[in-house]
Amino acid sequence: MKNRKIPAKDPLAAEVTKLSRSFAERAADPSYMDRAESREAYGAYYGEVSRSKGESLGYEILRRGAPSLFLKSPLRMLDLGSGTGEFALGVADALLSLPSLSLSLHLVDRSREALSDAAREGEHSRLSLTFSQAVLPDARPFLPGSFDIVTMANCLAENENSVEEFADLLQEISTFLTPGGLLLLVEPADRRASRTLLTLGDSLLSRHSPLSLLAPCPGGRTSSCPALEDPGDWCHEDRPADFSEFLLKTARSVGHVKDALKMTYLLFGREGTPAPPSLRLVSPLHKEKGLFFGDFCDGKTWWRIRLLTRNRGDLTRSFTRLHRGETLSESSPLSLAIAPPVDGRGSIDWPKDRQVVRLAHPDGRPFDSDDET
Ligand SMILES: C[S@@+](CC[C@H](N)C(=O)[O-])C[C@H]1O[C@@H](n2cnc3c(N)ncnc32)[C@H](O)[C@@H]1O
Repeated sequence: MKNRKIPAKDPLAAEVTKLSRSFAERAADPSYMDRAESREAYGAYYGEVSRSKGESLGYEILRRGAPSLFLKSPLRMLDLGSGTGEFALGVADALLSLPSLSLSLHLVDRSREALSDAAREGEHSRLSLTFSQAVLPDARPFLPGSFDIVTMANCLAENENSVEEFADLLQEISTFLTPGGLLLLVEPADRRASRTLLTLGDSLLSRHSPLSLLAPCPGGRTSSCPALEDPGDWCHEDRPADFSEFLLKTARSVGHVKDALKMTYLLFGREGTPAPPSLRLVSPLHKEKGLFFGDFCDGKTWWRIRLLTRNRGDLTRSFTRLHRGETLSESSPLSLAIAPPVDGRGSIDWPKDRQVVRLAHPDGRPFDSDDET
């Protein structure tokens, strides 16, 4: 029986279920944000998650961006497909944690009603909001302009047949990014949405635009994403998060598991320092009889790395402490390969005399001695 878990009396859970199904089936009615019931359900449920994602990635922007970028006042940010504004306002929360910073944020959405709600949400003495109602990617009333940070979250999944057109739009926008400026793209963590974003990212990289990829891929990836070589693969984040009891209750009613921030993201910079060469864990770590294994990406090749458990001690401890998205220091995985990689896939048996040096958390924070205890 469908919707078995939804109590008949919980209209929010019922509306969230409808929305969720329409997102999953890529069948969202383009006017869903114009209708009060679905807009409010979106804000009450997805809004909290989006705000947390925005905040988490906003802090990452502060960490990965050039410090000179955040000396600007006001910092000018553009958010595309803003809906009721939560993602952009989450990024804003993080940026405004710098006491000297003021932010001018321009929100764009096809839904005027959603933008009106966003206007009510975004109250902060150092934040000024402006709006454009526009159907992307063709309508561009916000151009020409000058932006320090451009974001787009959970919008491409509703436009997956227009990837190249969105790449055209973002390429044009990138020419209005100030030096050191950042472009952050975020989509849901499911295979289809993730691969669509990775495809858009490859299109941007292939255009010789002024953008380089700063995160999450190690080593400043310039060629195509190895995840796209195999239709079964995709790449996503799974970061710990705390949600309100209200959200968790709704999630339980709907039958969702909400225990982490799950998303695929790409952070481009006009200038800036990419993540250093390393191996990033892009799967859970698996245990089998006699060995542990996981999939790691160095930005060029997707490596299946195995560690035999007879290698007891510090090596196994360091390896098995890794979580999805974390990186370990290794600048020449090719030298460890069992055989030359084929179609972007390679295998490594981790040598027992080689240390596993954990380099960075998924958001780029380096590991320090506290993390080792
Ligand atoms: C899933 S919501 C995401 C809202 C917000 N960015 C977030 O992450 O919470 C997608 C938003 O993109 C807007 N949108 C989708 N396609 C659009 C398009 N082609 N042009 C303008 N807005 C669009 C929708 O109206 C909706 O508000």
